Amino acid sequence: MEITIQRVTINDVATLSTIAKQTFYDTFTGTCTEADMQSFLEEYFNETQLAKELSNPDDYCYFAMADGKAVGYIRFMEDYNSLPVMKQWKALELKRIYVLKEYHGMGIAQKLIDFMMDYVAKENYKAIWLGVWEHNLRAQKFYEKYGFVNSGYTHDFPIGNTPQTDVWLWKFL
Ligand SMILES: CC(C)(COP(=O)(O)OP(=O)(O)OC[C@H]1O[C@@H](n2cnc3c(N)ncnc32)[C@H](O)[C@@H]1OP(=O)(O)O)[C@@H](O)C(=O)NCCC(=O)NCCS
Repeated sequence: MEITIQRVTINDVATLSTIAKQTFYDTFTGTCTEADMQSFLEEYFNETQLAKELSNPDDYCYFAMADGKAVGYIRFMEDYNSLPVMKQWKALELKRIYVLKEYHGMGIAQKLIDFMMDYVAKENYKAIWLGVWEHNLRAQKFYEKYGFVNSGYTHDFPIGNTPQTDVWLWKFL
């Protein structure tokens, strides 16, 4: 299987919407009501919203392609709004990394994060941070392998009316 990384463009918005909804659903189904899930998917992963993100040149979104098919994506950006304490460093937020479940454990997420780490080194970032649901142990283990540690900060990440808590992890370079 040949894995390549390619920037998601506005022309890919339908594919991104499909994969974003599918992966979010698979990750969080059962942790909230079905109605909360459906309204979250529509609010955050509708094509208009995603097109807005893709049209910002400072908002980086890349697909992992397996033999030409999009099977995962990563999104990162220098954007301090969600954790202003990071402003004291040149820091990048890893906003999303999602791989279709059939492709977990195959090194695809690794390719995506390695791609981001190359960008981080090239642009001389001093820190990266990300939010992860406190009970998402697979993702936490994955981030641990790349040197992310618990920052001690948390934030609310409700899905509709279902309260959830995310932990902020960070890594300094
Ligand atoms: C998070 C994600 C990108 C990681 O990619 P991946 O291909 O699954 O990652 P890897 O298999 O390389 O690493 C996961 C590690 O967790 C371990 N693991 C699997 N299930 C686990 C569990 N329930 N509890 C703890 N660790 C677990 C795996 O054994 C592996 O560790 P190892 O390499 O030491 O064996 C991918 O799982 C994914 O897309 N998940 C759904 C979306 C998501 O959660 N995104 C992150 C949101 S913050």
